Amino acid sequence: MNALTPHHQIAVIGAGAMGSGIAQVALNAGHRVVLYDAAPAALERGIASIDSAYRRLLEKGKIDAAAHADRMGRLQQAASLADLAGAALVIEAIVENLDIKATLLREVEALVGDDAIIATNTSSLSVTAIAARLRRPAQVAGLHFFNPAPVLPLVEIVSGKATLPAVADTLFAAALAWGKTPVRCASTPGFIVNRVARPFYGEALRLLNERAADVATLDAILRDCGGFRMGAFELMDMIGHDVNYAVTASVYDAMSQDPRYKPSLLQKELVDAGWLGRKSGKGFYDYGPDAVRPAPRSAAPAPAPREVIVEGDLGVASPLARLARNAGITVHQADSETGRLRIDGVTLALTDGRTATQRLAVGDGVAVVFDLALDYVAAGTVAIAVADGAPAGALDTATGFFQALGKQVVVIDDVAGLVVMRTVAMLANEAADVVQQGVTNAIDTDLAMVKGVNYPRGPLAWADAVTPAFVQRVLANLAATYGEDRYRSAPLLLRRALTQQPFHAVQEAAQ
Ligand code: NAI
Repeated sequence: MNALTPHHQIAVIGAGAMGSGIAQVALNAGHRVVLYDAAPAALERGIASIDSAYRRLLEKGKIDAAAHADRMGRLQQAASLADLAGAALVIEAIVENLDIKATLLREVEALVGDDAIIATNTSSLSVTAIAARLRRPAQVAGLHFFNPAPVLPLVEIVSGKATLPAVADTLFAAALAWGKTPVRCASTPGFIVNRVARPFYGEALRLLNERAADVATLDAILRDCGGFRMGAFELMDMIGHDVNYAVTASVYDAMSQDPRYKPSLLQKELVDAGWLGRKSGKGFYDYGPDAVRPAPRSAAPAPAPREVIVEGDLGVASPLARLARNAGITVHQADSETGRLRIDGVTLALTDGRTATQRLAVGDGVAVVFDLALDYVAAGTVAIAVADGAPAGALDTATGFFQALGKQVVVIDDVAGLVVMRTVAMLANEAADVVQQGVTNAIDTDLAMVKGVNYPRGPLAWADAVTPAFVQRVLANLAATYGEDRYRSAPLLLRRALTQQPFHAVQEAAQ
């Protein structure tokens, strides 16, 4: 089979959150869909949830009554697996267990035609290992949707060791025809998104463990300074700590316990307590009826400075000089090897992965470090940290400066790499390894993170904006500070840093 057309029947197994969403995607594209679940009640619920999703679209005027009736008319409830025999593509979305998936798919493979494609929506199991348990592993691939499947555009097309290239091509073309954004990748732990995203949670958990700030403040920094749609803690609460912890543990084990993916004891503690997040009413935040959402901490108002000296090139933080001018602050430019700001005798610098205390102690004069922002003009918040032993008034001086630029200032404890810079450096490092190891290419890595988990910018495009050399310096300083292999630089990042080559050619940079 070269291409899937709407006259091909699609079978979906598992009528839970993912299966019912995937069935909708195929129905929307004009296919006949047969849906099966081992639990009849789950099948009923799945069909009802598809119908109510369409009713909501009907109420909003996004589809008309004829489209609703047409789609539900093409949805068939399978009484047994035998009803799946005519499917050209079978997508399983059952429980995340290799034995159960492989046993089911072996049974399915005996029922369908020889050229039918068998796809798994697994998020963490090896497609190669599932396929190896079947008689026709060449016909097996991963088709990894994101939750909610009808809404999120990304689909990872995962090739196992034996997957026929034509099978991946057919799935790629089908996902495109269904209005999705497909990216190809090899069957490696976490594929693209669930691997590259690990540091988003992992670094936030470490920062909390180090008591850099409370969860509401760390989330606010990731959102309002980093431009992420949600903070790491509110996102983990939404995903569910059982699920998020299981994915982390599975990637960690699959990667031979590489410390980069090490699960956090803080999160395990939540799982042990049954504080699974929104679904259990409590996680990092409380979701009870009387719960009051804690407010992020921000600094009290401080006076604006009259002038600032910009020493050297501020690099990615250069817009700060323009913002200062616009705020009526006199800006003087001075030559220097390193980019920094001097305000009333206090020196501020963008974090390079060292703490402010380390910088002051080694005599480079920096008493305050500030965080990376996605866009310094648009950012509502800037996080800063002050060195132990900084001159009196350093905190007020730095606070007054950023407040004069219209920012909320969040003062966190003096941790290495602050919040956004450390997160972005680790995301980019992981993405660099994904590219070097041939899981996928740089464009698709960034595309996957933007379309699959709504990142405001692909990690590699972000590293290009900061410059690979600066990102690598941040990681080297984090590695020196913590003495942990977790922060080792990916070889490709190191190479880009040394040659000053971006990950993306300018015209192709994924935004
Ligand atoms: P779910 O628990 O909502 O639904 C699973 C369904 O499969 C249940 O209705 C269950 O009755 C049925 N089932 C279990 N064993 C079966 C069997 N042997 N034969 C037929 N039906 C069986 O699970 P969910 O969240 O929909 O996940 C399904 C799959 O999709 C898993 O592999 C998961 O890792 C993957 N996935 C989940 C995502 C998520 O955010 N929930 C995102 C992407 C992938």
